[in-house]
Amino acid sequence: MKVMITGATSGIGKELAIRYANQGHQVIACGRSEEKLQRLADSNSYIRTLCFELTDFHHYPQLEHDIDLLILNAGDCYYIQDPLNFNAEAFERTININLISIGYGLQAWLKNITQGGRLVLVSSSAAILPLPKAEAYGASKAGLTYLAKTLALTLKPHHISVSVVQPGFVDTPLTERNNFPMPMILTSQVAAQKIIQGISKGKAEINVPLSFVLIMKILRCLPHFIWRYLAVRMT
Ligand SMILES: NC(=O)c1ccc[n+]([C@@H]2O[C@H](COP(=O)([O-])OP(=O)(O)OC[C@H]3O[C@@H](n4cnc5c(N)ncnc54)[C@H](OP(=O)(O)O)[C@@H]3O)[C@@H](O)[C@H]2O)c1
Repeated sequence: MKVMITGATSGIGKELAIRYANQGHQVIACGRSEEKLQRLADSNSYIRTLCFELTDFHHYPQLEHDIDLLILNAGDCYYIQDPLNFNAEAFERTININLISIGYGLQAWLKNITQGGRLVLVSSSAAILPLPKAEAYGASKAGLTYLAKTLALTLKPHHISVSVVQPGFVDTPLTERNNFPMPMILTSQVAAQKIIQGISKGKAEINVPLSFVLIMKILRCLPHFIWRYLAVRMT
């Protein structure tokens, strides 16, 4: 199988790349650091690399070969620290990498997915409930989950399946910056293993860990004023 992964130089994406390569699949690992990509390619001969900035469509490489699995995983998180002095630049940066770049990836590479292939979009459990400081991150991921679920409908007649991944907390450089409790946090190794299992089972929604996402979904079912009360107390 040929697998292409964005954000493969760190965290979840790197683990996915290593695991797929170790299983003998051809991996195209995308990143924006030549150095990190070289280290990844040196670690396994099944890994080829592409270095470019995802928020600039003009730098997107065209693929010469078809792929069976496209995992659009790259993302970043900037919190809105002070909503009264709303940081539009942080908002834009977050939406650009987490949502707009996905549109670029779809335009560039969707045509390369083979019939019977799969598109995987790595969203977040933050898409489920409004969370303090996540005005930008949550909005980008809620948009991404909607996009994934819509594509699952519209790509079905074209024989391309779509999965959306909704991780809870995963221990990666992205969450190292967080200074608040992160319940049920997984290692990137465990998260990647569960994501690969979900993909191989053909799941449309991959929640890791399932228990954390279930709690979020139960909280979403409560009348909104109850969640607002709890969330405001959390801040
Ligand atoms: N960790 C969690 O708890 C968690 C929870 C829910 C969802 N997620 C989602 O999971 C995905 C992976 O996150 P992670 O935790 O593994 O984060 P990470 O360790 O920070 O990795 C992010 C990856 O995306 C790449 N990237 C970021 N901005 C880019 C840009 N503008 N152009 C090209 N590449 C770019 C990074 O490249 P560099 O190495 O060059 O920075 C890195 O390879 C993200 O979409 C994130 O939102 C993570």
